[in-house]
Amino acid sequence: MKITIFGSGYVGLVTGTCLADVGHDVVCMDVDAAKIERLKQGEIPIYEPGLESMLLRNVEAGRLSFTTDAREAVAHGVLQFIAVGTPPDEDGSADLKYVLAVAESIGEYMDDYKVIIDKSTVPVGTADRVHARVAEVLKHRGVSVDFDVCSNPEFLKEGAALEDFTRGARIVVGTDSEKVRERMRECYAPYNRNHEKLMFMDVRAAELTKYAANAMLATKISFMNEISNLAERLGADIEEVRRGIGSDPRIGYHFIYPGCGYGGSCFPKDVQALARTASQIGYEAELLTAVESVNKRQKVTLFEKLSRAFDGDLTGKTIAVWGLAFKPNTDDMRDAPSRTLMEALWAAGAKVQAYDPESMRETRRIYGERDDLVLVADRIQAVKGADALVICTEWKEFRTLDAGWLKTQLAFPVVVDGRNLFEPSAMKSAGLMYYAVGRGDTLALTRD
Ligand SMILES: NC(=O)c1ccc[n+]([C@@H]2O[C@H](COP(=O)([O-])OP(=O)(O)OC[C@H]3O[C@@H](n4cnc5c(N)ncnc54)[C@H](O)[C@@H]3O)[C@@H](O)[C@H]2O)c1
Repeated sequence: MKITIFGSGYVGLVTGTCLADVGHDVVCMDVDAAKIERLKQGEIPIYEPGLESMLLRNVEAGRLSFTTDAREAVAHGVLQFIAVGTPPDEDGSADLKYVLAVAESIGEYMDDYKVIIDKSTVPVGTADRVHARVAEVLKHRGVSVDFDVCSNPEFLKEGAALEDFTRGARIVVGTDSEKVRERMRECYAPYNRNHEKLMFMDVRAAELTKYAANAMLATKISFMNEISNLAERLGADIEEVRRGIGSDPRIGYHFIYPGCGYGGSCFPKDVQALARTASQIGYEAELLTAVESVNKRQKVTLFEKLSRAFDGDLTGKTIAVWGLAFKPNTDDMRDAPSRTLMEALWAAGAKVQAYDPESMRETRRIYGERDDLVLVADRIQAVKGADALVICTEWKEFRTLDAGWLKTQLAFPVVVDGRNLFEPSAMKSAGLMYYAVGRGDTLALTRD
């Protein structure tokens, strides 16, 4: 099939590449000329495991190309995927300006039947708005062209995006049109062979499904963080509690890790946007608001623990930071807990000496050159001459540690572990002051 994807970010590139990989003829369009130029040169603007080789292979085979030309992009596909960003507006609701700009381009240039597919995460009712915008532009042009709009939310997670796209649990399509169902079946057929994954539903149900999924996952995280704060204060070890509750199949072990708060481009903005949708219709979504505020509070705990370990004075201290990305296997720094930490450290007069396997370029792009931010080549360099260490991201390469060696590197033997990577007793016996999340050993600190 001929397919056009608007937006060449995490979702657009993965969708375009995976659809090309099963033989579709895909054009990816983006308004960011520099990004498209890099893609044309074979350079991948994001880090996503496995993406580079799959993308290059499909470009080589002539099934995948890139353009900034909206007219060419609209002319190409019978399927027009919208995969542009939907960042939070000032009031927390999803800003639809990019989605509606694509709708306008499609209306402007389409001459034959198109299925317009909302893949971006968009509030309930957006498909209707996209439909209305395209119809408006067509009317303005004085032409009548048939088209449909459907919802096909994306559930991939960064770091495992290819696996999720190609072997995801479900493919949700919201539409009431048989013509659209047929085309979407054809589009996804190569990914629907093992068992039926396509779930057709009403457009509004599909739009809400995406927000409900992210809100549920964010709720699990905030719930565990809430319990870990209780555990810390009550002298219980959250890791034992986690195993205890995870063993119940109704709860399960997935997604119940305590930590330093969720980040990334989706959970924070989607929870906020759903709460905003609720308030717009006069419903107070108390649980969603609590999930968000627990998360905000959790992101500050790394700094608070560190600050308490230094009696509230971090002036002139050098703090080693392991991990900057909001989670492992991505370079994405959007709403990462490391950012809350670093910004608080700088405000307190401390210097950051950090290492991340993939997101240091992104860190530089966000914060630029500054004296109080030193990015180093590996985790060993990060702790050299540092006063204390904070672990923000659970990259695999951080998961083993010679605690005795670390003790010799740090001027003060303070380790704040936002991901509970190590056994407190082992760290303690190496002479480190180890503060994790919701574990017995943080008790002394929090009781002070
Ligand atoms: N990143 C994820 O893990 C993920 C997962 C599921 C769903 N989503 C949703 O998918 C959408 C896209 O997310 P992302 O992370 O890929 O965003 P992104 O910021 O990485 O990419 C968005 C791209 O859209 C481009 N763009 C903006 N306006 C455009 C226009 N008029 N025409 C063409 N391109 C345009 C931007 O230049 C950018 O390259 C969001 O709604 C997001 O919530 C993201």
